[in-house]
Amino acid sequence: MQRESVAVITGSSTGNGFETSLLLAKNGFYTYATMRNLDKSTRMKEITKKDSLPLEVLQLDVTDDKSVTDAIDVISSRHGRIDVLVNNAGYDVFGAVEDLSMKEIRMQFETNFFGAVRLMKAVIPIMRKQRSGIIVNVSSIGGLVGVPLNSAYTASKFALEGFSESMKYELDGFGIKVILIEPGAVNTNFLETLEAQKAMNPDSPYAELSKKASEGRREAFKQASSSMQVAGVILNAIKSEKPNTRYLVGNDAAAIMERKKNSSDFELERWIKESLEGKGFVRK
Ligand SMILES: NC(=O)c1ccc[n+]([C@@H]2O[C@H](COP(=O)([O-])OP(=O)(O)OC[C@H]3O[C@@H](n4cnc5c(N)ncnc54)[C@H](OP(=O)(O)O)[C@@H]3O)[C@@H](O)[C@H]2O)c1
Repeated sequence: MQRESVAVITGSSTGNGFETSLLLAKNGFYTYATMRNLDKSTRMKEITKKDSLPLEVLQLDVTDDKSVTDAIDVISSRHGRIDVLVNNAGYDVFGAVEDLSMKEIRMQFETNFFGAVRLMKAVIPIMRKQRSGIIVNVSSIGGLVGVPLNSAYTASKFALEGFSESMKYELDGFGIKVILIEPGAVNTNFLETLEAQKAMNPDSPYAELSKKASEGRREAFKQASSSMQVAGVILNAIKSEKPNTRYLVGNDAAAIMERKKNSSDFELERWIKESLEGKGFVRK
């Protein structure tokens, strides 16, 4: 009998993590859909039961060392291996640097960057011993291009990109692959989480820019990809013999990258500013 591959996904309560967990389980991976708040697991559990999926929900907060080691210990003691890690948990703190507190900027890194690092440090020894495994780091097109009022988020994703690129060399000899997923806008809770933030303060000197930037975002999100598309790209990459280092998801991400490749910095910045005027990023 072929051995069952074991997958761990962070931030599975909603959006990309939710769909990726289900898709991996539907494709035969023994899947640990982890989330920081188990109260949000009802729907996942219902689907798992209805479709008899090989999926378990486990508590895991990526900002908490003990929560991470406890969850990974449970998985490794049950299976003795982990084949796939999807570092998906993340959020976007929107706002001008002047309007964000140091705490908010640090928290952005604590989740989006150090959260992924914490998971990788817990899982790599297991993958190294088994001499195989794939680490999927969910970055963003914002990990490749800076956009207005998004400095903390883009910085956390740029950090994840650099970390992943460097790590590939040290892990390659142990049969461990590291890849990056770079979606443009995806239709998840992401935008609502972002819009609920206090950075929309009307007294801010950046209020007008904020308004423009959020309108531009809302426009961009009208053509958003779905979480299912993100999950599909992740599944294909995991199943590939020789996965690429990077996978863009969505026409908007592709259009931005094409611009970046073919433009000077000045031209790219002008195009991004124009996109704020409601034109969106998708090639027209
Ligand atoms: N949506 C987009 O447009 C977009 C574009 C590019 C990249 N991405 C990336 O895709 C990933 C998933 O985001 P999404 O779009 O699916 O948004 P989402 O629906 O808001 O999901 C985010 C997930 O991350 C979890 N999370 C946040 N902090 C966490 C922590 N400390 N520990 C564990 N889980 C935590 C959330 O849990 P709670 O439910 O408990 O909050 C939720 O499950 C993120 O890395 C994001 O940067 C999204």
